[in-house]
Amino acid sequence: MMGASFEDTVGLANFHLDTQAAKYGFCYHVVDMGEMAERLKEDEHGVLSVLSDRELVHLKDLRNPKNRLQWISGRYAVKSAVFKYKLREQSLINPNCLDVLKGADSAPFILQYPDLCVSITHSFPYCIGMVWDRAVGIDMEKVFFPEKALIKHFFSHREEEFLKGIENSGEYSVKSTILWTRKEALSKLFRLGMKMDFKKLDTLEDTIIFPEKNNVRLLSFVCNNYCISLALSDISEN
Ligand SMILES: CC(C)(COP(=O)(O)OP(=O)(O)OC[C@H]1O[C@@H](n2cnc3c(N)ncnc32)[C@H](O)[C@@H]1OP(=O)(O)O)[C@@H](O)C(=O)NCCC(=O)NCCS
Repeated sequence: MMGASFEDTVGLANFHLDTQAAKYGFCYHVVDMGEMAERLKEDEHGVLSVLSDRELVHLKDLRNPKNRLQWISGRYAVKSAVFKYKLREQSLINPNCLDVLKGADSAPFILQYPDLCVSITHSFPYCIGMVWDRAVGIDMEKVFFPEKALIKHFFSHREEEFLKGIENSGEYSVKSTILWTRKEALSKLFRLGMKMDFKKLDTLEDTIIFPEKNNVRLLSFVCNNYCISLALSDISEN
C-alpha cells in the first residue's frame, strides 16, 4: 500500500483496516488522541465546532479530562467515517449536523442515520470509529498479560485450553489479548457490552454460527503492541 508507514501503529491499523474495508465495504477512521489533545490545547473552539448542540450538552457533563478526550475523539472518528461513507454516494455531510449519541443500552447510534451501524473503541492513544450497513463491533487493546482468574471468568473452556497450550511461549500475551478483543468486538456487535456472557463465547474460529441469528465473521490484527478485532455480521464469502 502506497503512503502507509509500517513503523507506526496508526499506519499499520490503516493498512489492515483499509484491506478489510475494500473487501466488506465499511468505513472507519483512526484518531490519534495524543494529537487530538494537542489540537484541543491550541484550538479548542475549532475542534469542538464538529460537535452538534446535543453532543456539546453531553460533553458539559463530562468532567474527567481523559473521558472528555475519549468522547470527543469517538465523535470525531465516527463523523469522519460517516463522511467517507456518504462521499461514496456522492453526498457531503456537515459533521456538526450529526448527533453521535448513546442509547439506553450504551451502544452508540447516529440520530440522523438510524440504519447505519456504529462502533467505537479507544485504547490510549488511539481511537477508532467505524460505520457499516450491517451490525458491527470493533475493539482495540494494548497487549497485556491477563491474570488466570480473568481467563477463568471470561474465557470459554476451549479458549482456556488453547491458552494453556501456549502458556510458556512468547505468543501467550498477544493471543490472549486477541481473544479478549474478539469477545469485546462481539459484545459491541450485539449491543450488550458488559451484559454479554463472555464465558459462553468461543472466539477461536473466524466464523461463529449463532442459532437464529446472523453468522459473525471475526477478523484480528496485531499492530505493534496493540490488537484490533472486528466482528462483522452475516458475511457471505465470495
Ligand atoms: C463498554 C464495553 C462495551 C467496552 O469497553 P472497553 O473495551 O473497555 O472500551 P472501548 O473504548 O473499546 O469501547 C468504548 C465504546 O464502546 C461503546 N459501547 C458502550 N456500551 C456498548 C454496548 N452496550 N454496545 C455496543 N457498544 C457499546 C461506546 O461507543 C464506547 O465509546 P463512547 O463512550 O465514546 O461512545 C464493555 O464491554 C466493557 O466495559 N468491558 C470492560 C472489560 C471487560 O471486562 N471485558 C471482558 C472481555 S473478555
